[in-house]
Amino acid sequence: KRLILIGPPGSGKGTQSPIIKDEYCLCHLATGDMLRSAVAAKTPLGIKAKETMEKGELVSDDLVVGIIDEAMQKPSCQKGFILDGFPRTVAQAEKLDKMLEKQKTKIDKVLDFAIDDSVLEERITGRWIHASSGRTYHTKFAPPKVHGVDDVTGEPLMQRKDDTAKVLKSRLEAFHRLTEPVIDYYKKKGVVARLPAEKPPKDVAVEVQKVLSS
Ligand code: AP5
Ligand code: ZN
Repeated sequence: KRLILIGPPGSGKGTQSPIIKDEYCLCHLATGDMLRSAVAAKTPLGIKAKETMEKGELVSDDLVVGIIDEAMQKPSCQKGFILDGFPRTVAQAEKLDKMLEKQKTKIDKVLDFAIDDSVLEERITGRWIHASSGRTYHTKFAPPKVHGVDDVTGEPLMQRKDDTAKVLKSRLEAFHRLTEPVIDYYKKKGVVARLPAEKPPKDVAVEVQKVLSS
């Protein structure tokens, strides 16, 4: 399967991705995660992206298209993939279409994580992540077994620099202005499935299952 997950910050893309990935043996390509590791490793790409990400704005289309183009070549992505956080502008969607045309494939489904903005601040400010795996926790909705510690590795958890109420405002603004048109772009192709993303994580997982098995 070739899937795209679209939704505002905190809508649950990163939470549902590992579940879908394991069920269908897909590769999980999250541009945000890839950019964050580039920032942490201080690569030239990371140095370019850092400030923009901390302000909650989108990094340039060319930068992320380059990352995705390279990542999709991996053998593990040939059977199928989950794109989480990409494409986020219509220009990125058009570039992706061109890449897929070359490989004579296309997107099977776009999962639209539909949720009201008002719920997102609590989700974002309570999030803790395990940086190297991308595993995600929430102080209230998905607490780790031991406070501040990853369940699997025992390593410390951290908070994202852009997970503040203030930066969330810019991220949401970017979502509504630049990313919502991407949903319409795929609606015209008839591949969009709307998910009720306000439900608890387990219920959202059931909805995802329904969409993917239909
Ligand atoms: P990115 O990392 O993609 O961030 P985002 O889109 O803002 O999305 P999030 O990761 O915040 O939300 P999520 O939907 O994954 O939520 P999660 O499942 O973790 O991008 C970061 C930055 O990188 C961008 O701002 C931009 O600068 C740059 N960038 C990335 N891609 C780009 C691109 N293509 N073009 C240009 N720039 C790009 O859940 C959130 C919290 O809620 C967690 O704590 C979780 O435990 C909890 N939770 C999840 N589901 C539920 C539920 N159902 N009920 C209750 N709590 C829940
Ligand atoms: Zn995410």
